[in-house]
Amino acid sequence: MYEVGAVEKVGQSLKGKEFASVYEFLDSLRKVARRYYIPVMRKKTTELLKSLIIKNKPKEMLEIGTSLGVSGMTALASSAGRLTTIDIDEEVTNQAKDFFARHNLLSRCEFILGDAVSVVSMMDNNRYDFIILDGPKGQYIELYKMLAPMLNKDGIMFVDDINYARFIDKKGLDKRKHRTIINNMKEFLDTINNDINIKATVYDIEDGVLVAEKI
Ligand SMILES: C[S@@+](CC[C@H](N)C(=O)[O-])C[C@H]1O[C@@H](n2cnc3c(N)ncnc32)[C@H](O)[C@@H]1O
Repeated sequence: MYEVGAVEKVGQSLKGKEFASVYEFLDSLRKVARRYYIPVMRKKTTELLKSLIIKNKPKEMLEIGTSLGVSGMTALASSAGRLTTIDIDEEVTNQAKDFFARHNLLSRCEFILGDAVSVVSMMDNNRYDFIILDGPKGQYIELYKMLAPMLNKDGIMFVDDINYARFIDKKGLDKRKHRTIINNMKEFLDTINNDINIKATVYDIEDGVLVAEKI
């Protein structure tokens, strides 16, 4: 999925280096991942995630889109809770496991390798206090329909990259090629805004964040 060797190079770049805290490690990881075009959660978005986790003290957390673990490690480092994280890409998942282990976060985390829609469709009895949605943008609407009932009362769904259409514009990419994802994202935002069980707040930072609270 990424340039051949990119994930390994990220791992090599950070190998043997000492960091004062997990957050300092994540700052470096973010920079190195960017160098190799591996998308991970951006700085301000991660800070917002951290502040919400500290405030809400979730016990059970679910993440769609592990990648190299920036958001997942932030969630675990800022709470005493447990995280289940799903990604379709084996290479990033294995590298993330190594990073979690380095910071003693592995024992509170379960990694699931697979397509998020298939995996989530088989977990309908699970309940979560906090859900991070940072995976396949075109499937947010499908995932939301399955995930919303799995959110406990007062639980939070933290959704990254809601300004997908703006991102495509900014990168000068052909909007027609991304039309289905853009339309799905629009349907997702309309659905969430019309859900009477949800209080939604949009943060116009970086790629756009939506925080949905179950009321
Ligand atoms: C933006 S990255 C996640 C960044 C991550 N949250 C972080 O902060 O490090 C999106 C991830 O979603 C994963 N992904 C894409 N399609 C997927 C699918 N259908 N099911 C599960 N994961 C998927 C990609 O492999 C990628 O690692």
